[in-house]
Amino acid sequence: MATSKHPWAEELPLLYDHLWKCLTRGISDRDAAARHPTLATVNKSGMPQARTVVLREADQQAATLATYTDIHSDKIASLRVNPAAALHIWDAEQKLQLRVEANVTILNGDEVSERWQRIPEHARTAYSRGPAPGEPIANSLDYTKTPAENAFAVLWLDIQAIEALHLGQHHRRAIFKRANNWAGQWLVP
Ligand SMILES: Cc1cc2nc3c(=O)[nH]c(=O)nc-3n(C[C@H](O)[C@H](O)[C@H](O)COP(=O)(O)O)c2cc1C
Repeated sequence: MATSKHPWAEELPLLYDHLWKCLTRGISDRDAAARHPTLATVNKSGMPQARTVVLREADQQAATLATYTDIHSDKIASLRVNPAAALHIWDAEQKLQLRVEANVTILNGDEVSERWQRIPEHARTAYSRGPAPGEPIANSLDYTKTPAENAFAVLWLDIQAIEALHLGQHHRRAIFKRANNWAGQWLVP
């Protein structure tokens, strides 16, 4: 009998562990698909807004993820009104799509100062004082970025559900919900 190329896709508990391996790999491996998820939020007008972020933390036990951002960015204003977010990852090598639903808590100030200390000097310009990200400017380089600790925010994603779609020889789709203690349910792909 031929052995399966993707045994992890065939049983719900294996699939759940595998998708967490993928998420966790995003933290340590710059080339992993989960390194650069798409984070979607809903703005004040009800419009979905999607953008690439860097995945910074993943905790399977707590089912949480974290990414960093500038407190002045539009996504913060959106999350203050509606703390719901979706995270999307397409791992082309594994033919695996992950869709995460989460409630987001914005962490800032003292509660993130340890993380700020660990950010290398050159990377701190992503969190700055002065004109906010997205403000109009006359010319493309009419800006300076001055790092500011109080501009540094952590988006703490408390996962409510993760959906996996695997496009292997057989297509498989499953959803895992916090409300079901992550037991998992197969779905029609
Ligand atoms: C490869 C890549 C990685 C990025 N990582 C982050 C990130 O970790 N945090 C972040 O706030 N923006 C990140 N950005 C920029 C966002 O995609 C976006 O342009 C910015 O956050 C403004 O989004 P907003 O106006 O919807 O808040 C990244 C962009 C790219 C292309």
